[in-house]
Amino acid sequence: MSATLREALQPYLDEQRSVVDAEIEHLLPPAGAYPESIHRAMRYAVFAGGKRLRPILCAEAGRLFDGDAPGLLRLASALELIHTYSLIHDDLPALDNDDLRRGKPTCHRVFGEAVAILAGNALLTLAFETLAAPSADPDAEHQRLRIIHEIAQAIGTRGGMLGGEVVDLESTAQAADSTTLDYIHAAKTGSFIRAAVRCGAMVANAAEADLTRLTQYGEKVGLAFQIADDLLDVLGSKEMLGKAVRKDGAQRKATYPGLHGVEASQRIAAGLIDEACEVLALYGSRAERLREIARFLIARTS
Ligand code: IPE
Ligand code: IPE
Ligand code: MG
Ligand code: MG
Ligand code: MG
Repeated sequence: MSATLREALQPYLDEQRSVVDAEIEHLLPPAGAYPESIHRAMRYAVFAGGKRLRPILCAEAGRLFDGDAPGLLRLASALELIHTYSLIHDDLPALDNDDLRRGKPTCHRVFGEAVAILAGNALLTLAFETLAAPSADPDAEHQRLRIIHEIAQAIGTRGGMLGGEVVDLESTAQAADSTTLDYIHAAKTGSFIRAAVRCGAMVANAAEADLTRLTQYGEKVGLAFQIADDLLDVLGSKEMLGKAVRKDGAQRKATYPGLHGVEASQRIAAGLIDEACEVLALYGSRAERLREIARFLIARTS
């Protein structure tokens, strides 16, 4: 994707981000609600910045089948609470020990480690409270349970985000092989992105065959997204990304450029995005946004 195409997509991404942010604003307790420290920390971490790509992917996957599906925006926004929890905890001194996130000092640098840990837990809990809140439609209950189950699995320890984070930690400075590296990336990042697109489609009552296609799209895009994150750590700047760079090498993390080199990693990520776009061929121009977002994910500079 050229810089021009990236710029062409930006107004759409900006608009989507503000729609999601307005919903998150409703979901989060007010900063002044007692006990204030944790509510301020939750809001700080969520609104520090961020691309909102998981909610945007979720909503766009839903729109492929039913753009007016009740609960689609709420689901999409709850995903961002989970994602922000994962970032707060990922940055803690016991994990990646980062001082900068979304262009601002990390949550633990501002509020202290204890409140940051609790704010992460609180965002995760609020997300599930939101997902499980009763709806007016009793017929949707089964589908809602399925979505909650899918998201919980995607961020859990068996092939989900937490499994990936643990193997990421335990592989640090260990010269991980490519099977381990692929597990880390698919688990810590890919599984949640796959769940985001699948759950968006589920809310919109997509058929099983459609879910299968979106599973493939989500897995390929999710892995490519983490490869791009690894590449940006090598090729990007702190100013562009709002987080420290060159840290993966310094910490001897298992990364794609570390194991395969920069050019091979770029080729692999581009190949995954081509495959992800092809999976959606059946939907023709209706899926063009999902294809554009996929291409954007590896061409992004932030
Ligand atoms: C960063 O995710 C963490 C990874 C899974 C690589 P994003 O790059 O989506 O971060 P934000 O939400 O835009 O800050
Ligand atoms: C984090 O991966 C993935 C999460 C589940 C949070 P990284 O550790 O590479 O993400 P950054 O580079 O800190 O954003
Ligand atoms: Mg990490
Ligand atoms: Mg990190
Ligand atoms: Mg990274």
